[in-house]
Amino acid sequence: MSVTVRASAKINLHLGVGAPREDGFHPLDTVYQAISLYDDVTVSETDTDSLTVTGSAHVDVAGVPTDATNIAMRALAEAPCGSAHDVRIAKQVPVAGGMAGGSADGAAALLAHDRLHDLRQSDDLLLAQAARLGSDVPFSLVGGTARGRGRGELVEPIVDHGTWWWVVVPAAVGLSTPEVYRHFDRLHPDAPAEPAEPAELLAALASGEPVRLARALHNDLQEPAIDLRPELGDLIARGEAEGALRGMVSGSGPTCVFLCDSQEGSMEVLTALSASYDVVLSAVGPVAGAHVLG
Ligand code: C5P
Repeated sequence: MSVTVRASAKINLHLGVGAPREDGFHPLDTVYQAISLYDDVTVSETDTDSLTVTGSAHVDVAGVPTDATNIAMRALAEAPCGSAHDVRIAKQVPVAGGMAGGSADGAAALLAHDRLHDLRQSDDLLLAQAARLGSDVPFSLVGGTARGRGRGELVEPIVDHGTWWWVVVPAAVGLSTPEVYRHFDRLHPDAPAEPAEPAELLAALASGEPVRLARALHNDLQEPAIDLRPELGDLIARGEAEGALRGMVSGSGPTCVFLCDSQEGSMEVLTALSASYDVVLSAVGPVAGAHVLG
């Protein structure tokens, strides 16, 4: 018997970052949205632990560890039940792209393990296990559109009346999240302890109006990411010139996402950017959090 769980990529519609805490993590006030790029994780019982990672053409699976350090294997170790597992990860979410692909795999493995052994652990218990795996993992379980505080792990769903169309441009080479945070610290040695709040963004989500959402998008990690990868600034300008309402770096980057006014609008931007960029994807949000595929 095996269980397959699907978990999605995330983008940050708002990412307010404060000065580092004593534990080295940065206090965040963020708004996550789950969008329609997916990793599928299949878990079954076996004699010895094994892990296989495959991916869509645009996913560089060479960058994904296939030993016990893989977040899916760490997830199974979080809730040990004495069994060994075979884990198969099929990736569509870019690796080291600022879209929480690893977090999606961790969340999917936690849920798959729970259902495989019919443990039916409480949401609170799964969320606590998820938080130990990484700051974005609880959101990968919850999905939809949600506010994240603390280091991002304290997640609370928020009102979102929109269907938002995105064009997604991954980069060939990933960026290290800790490196982008370190660069934020270098650029902002006097960052306030409290991260910026998303007041206007929350109102824009409730309005369902793309133009209003476009104006409210905000990412404090965009400046350090572009400083480390100046070509991302060119990409954002290009997408906006081709008709996107707004382009931004996703999380710590280097993936860039473009909000469009409609599905048709997103197809036009996708076609235009495809002339110059190898991989250009479209996605819609919000979508569900980690869930068992029937
Ligand atoms: O929690 P996670 O393992 O995903 O974080 C990866 C790294 O990103 C951390 O080790 C830290 O360097 C950085 N980070 C941070 N502040 C956060 C989240 C992540 O500095 N709120």
